[in-house]
Amino acid sequence: MKSPSFCLRLFLLLICLAPLFFLVGQGSKGGRGPNSDRSHNITILLWHWPFGPSYNLEGDVCWNRYRIPDCRLVDQRSLYPSADLVVFHHRELMNGQERLPLHLHRPRHQKWVWLSLESPDNSRYLKPFNNVFNWTMSYRRDADITMPYGKLLPKNCDTGNDSSTEDIIPNNKSILACWVVSHYEPQHSRSLVYKSLKRSIPVEVYGRLRGSVLASSDLLPTISSCYFYLSFENSISKDYITEKLWRNAYQAGAVPVVLGPPPDDYIAVAPPNSFIHVENFPSTKELGNYLCQLQLDKERYAGYFAWRHSYQVKLYTDWRERLCSICPQYHSLPAQKVYHDLEAWVRK
Ligand SMILES: *[C@@H]1O[C@H](CO)[C@@H](O)[C@H](O)[C@H]1NC(C)=O
Ligand SMILES: *[C@@H]1O[C@H](CO)[C@@H](O)[C@H](O)[C@H]1NC(C)=O
Ligand SMILES: *[C@@H]1O[C@H](CO)[C@@H](O)[C@H](O)[C@H]1NC(C)=O
Ligand SMILES: *[C@@H]1O[C@H](CO)[C@@H](O)[C@H](O)[C@H]1NC(C)=O
Repeated sequence: MKSPSFCLRLFLLLICLAPLFFLVGQGSKGGRGPNSDRSHNITILLWHWPFGPSYNLEGDVCWNRYRIPDCRLVDQRSLYPSADLVVFHHRELMNGQERLPLHLHRPRHQKWVWLSLESPDNSRYLKPFNNVFNWTMSYRRDADITMPYGKLLPKNCDTGNDSSTEDIIPNNKSILACWVVSHYEPQHSRSLVYKSLKRSIPVEVYGRLRGSVLASSDLLPTISSCYFYLSFENSISKDYITEKLWRNAYQAGAVPVVLGPPPDDYIAVAPPNSFIHVENFPSTKELGNYLCQLQLDKERYAGYFAWRHSYQVKLYTDWRERLCSICPQYHSLPAQKVYHDLEAWVRK
């Protein structure tokens, strides 16, 4: 009877020490990589702000806000000559609102970064940008800099494990399945799945489709009263998993029913028993039956929340945090690289 508790303790000890190993690993990397020059900050110049609004970059923003050292995030174009990286957000290039400074001499070590968190369906006008960028920054796992919409972090050990599953599942659930949709297109695959699913189970819909638009402060409380949340992406493409999973479902405390990239893409970033993938059912009728049964089976339903004992959700929403997070990976990024065919990479 002793060995299980010993194993558990060893397991917890290892989990506690993991961040330490991680830090040591990071530390020893610094200063040795091909992009290294420890005598100064890594300077990231954001050429233009994504979607318009700018954020305050006063002070040592990466250190003060995110405890990321040696990282200087700027948006003054006059600092171009000293920038290690220049980041260009695709949307404004695509709209023609902004242009690349192709007339400027590019210092030999400087990298130009193509930034986009949009799906390929929403990324047009890529051809003009062949042979321009050195690195890509996207939610994709195979981008040079992967910037997901969210991720799971191991819980701190000092928070302990005193929460029972009952504390972790909101206890005010009354609605079987909910969907929040602000942009309804009847031909989207998510709309087809919804229409078909609601023939076998009731689905509560919020958003412009029903004229019942939720105030943003009501979004999570409303979803937490649902057993299941339809985390249906508006575009089906590789690794495209947005806040519809991380925030709307996980943070609200509803089990996500996901429609998006294939199950393996979800399993790569989320615990297998934390979501229900539409593709794993031969029909929406069977999916509907499964949801009905699961709602009634308390123990099995609770199994979908077990991961919450060991993980917490981390969202990325602030462009400053996204950009500062380049610095810790900088030294392990490829020293020499050119995207000769950006469109092929985006559509891959
Ligand atoms: C690094 O950048 C920060 C933020 O701009 C600045 O406060 C700091 O003085 C810089 N350090 C060096 C060594 O240049
Ligand atoms: C935390 O406690 C719950 C039950 O109280 C248990 O099911 C779960 O496995 C525990 N998690 C860890 C990491 O020990
Ligand atoms: C349901 O409970 C959760 C916490 O368990 C709370 O955050 C949320 O506001 C509640 N929702 C409603 C509609 O009362
Ligand atoms: C970055 O891309 C440019 C444009 O293709 C290229 O000329 C340059 O050699 C690349 N720099 C590095 C360091 O890879």
